[in-house]
Amino acid sequence: MEQVRITVFDTTLRDGEQSPGCSMNQQEKVRMAQQLDRLGVDVIEAGFPIASDGDFEAVKAIAAAIRRPVIAGLARACRPDIERAWDALKHAARPRIHVFLATSDIHLKYKLRMTREECLRHASEAVAFAKSLCADVEFSPEDATRTDPEFLFQVLEAVVEAGATTLNIPDTVGYTVPAEFGELIAAIRSRVKGIENVTISAHCHNDLGMAVANTMAAIAAGARQVECTINGIGERAGNAALEEIVMAMHVRRDRYPYQTGIASEQLFPASRLLSEITGSAVQANKAIVGRNAFAHEAGIHQDGVLKNPLTYEIMTPQSVGVPDSQLVLGKHSGRHALAIRCERLGYQFDRRALDEIYRRFVRLADKIKHVEDHHLLELIRETPKPAVSAAAMFEAVPIAIAAAAGAATHDGPRGFPLAPPANAFGLPIPPSEHHHDQEDYLWGV
Ligand code: KIV
Ligand code: ZN
Repeated sequence: MEQVRITVFDTTLRDGEQSPGCSMNQQEKVRMAQQLDRLGVDVIEAGFPIASDGDFEAVKAIAAAIRRPVIAGLARACRPDIERAWDALKHAARPRIHVFLATSDIHLKYKLRMTREECLRHASEAVAFAKSLCADVEFSPEDATRTDPEFLFQVLEAVVEAGATTLNIPDTVGYTVPAEFGELIAAIRSRVKGIENVTISAHCHNDLGMAVANTMAAIAAGARQVECTINGIGERAGNAALEEIVMAMHVRRDRYPYQTGIASEQLFPASRLLSEITGSAVQANKAIVGRNAFAHEAGIHQDGVLKNPLTYEIMTPQSVGVPDSQLVLGKHSGRHALAIRCERLGYQFDRRALDEIYRRFVRLADKIKHVEDHHLLELIRETPKPAVSAAAMFEAVPIAIAAAAGAATHDGPRGFPLAPPANAFGLPIPPSEHHHDQEDYLWGV
């Protein structure tokens, strides 16, 4: 069965750029837009051309350089904004004018000082004007989730009639919750005349930490475009994170049987490039692209992942462009990961020797939190070898050195060390799996 296609509208360069510390110059925006193109987004919202000359030039440059995706420019519901947006976009291969106007009473009364009637007229006239310039027009009723639904339906109907091709429903202040947002999308689908001819889009902010959940609820209710940003950057708490939406669909195809044009292995490179350009770091525990997203410190988890990554990973790091999982050595780590790391450093220990190394390792980790390779090497050097009578307990064989000396134990032909049997991570299978004298559970602690 053919899967429903979701349009991915990336607004990293517009809404994302509006977040403190994330502004980008023209060259940086073009560089990021090229990566978004590689990533396979369908629409790049390149900026807000009336906002500054720099933004105008950046939108123009992106429109000239990036030819596959639709390039959108934002405009308020007034002629000067729309004209400026069109000036920046008119040479794009696939231009889109994105017009917005607030519709909630609170915005109308305090911000715009406009009546509902005036709002309705402005929205409809602005869309008609945009349509006279550009076939592809998106309309957003800002603060839609706090707008009286009956008035919202009225505005949406008017802009569809005026020529809008996409109706974007913004949760501007991150106020809604998934069930409510899903119901709103469903109500729009059933109440707005002409809705079957346009695309419904979701644009969610993360003030309550529900931007992605709300977006997924909107998709389930019939939205077919999602607006999102790399790393979830955006106003205040940010926008819905593109990488999370895409991977939710990917990993939970059973619940979200939809398809996107995203090349998921470009997600991590996109995240990295954005942080490099903006100088804004990604939080370590950020889903999909955070430093810890594929890192395991707890011994029981490390043991599980080493035996089969599926025990604690629901997607492969490679599927999102992360080179590999990481086993971080800290006080929660277990013997299994420690043994693997020692082997990688060229040392193999028998069970009792490893216990001794492990005891010292935990004491050190308690003090310094993360044990790096050089700490471990020092610790191995400083651990006294047991008496000769107990030699079997401690077999610190620096594998490479032993190999160079032609040691028999681990040698392959010509004295080279044999690569130990590899597990799914390409890591050597630890002694536990070739010496069956270890109780399995011990490896996790
Ligand atoms: O959050 C919002 O309401 C917006 C609109 C301009 C779409 O960013
Ligand atoms: Zn927004």
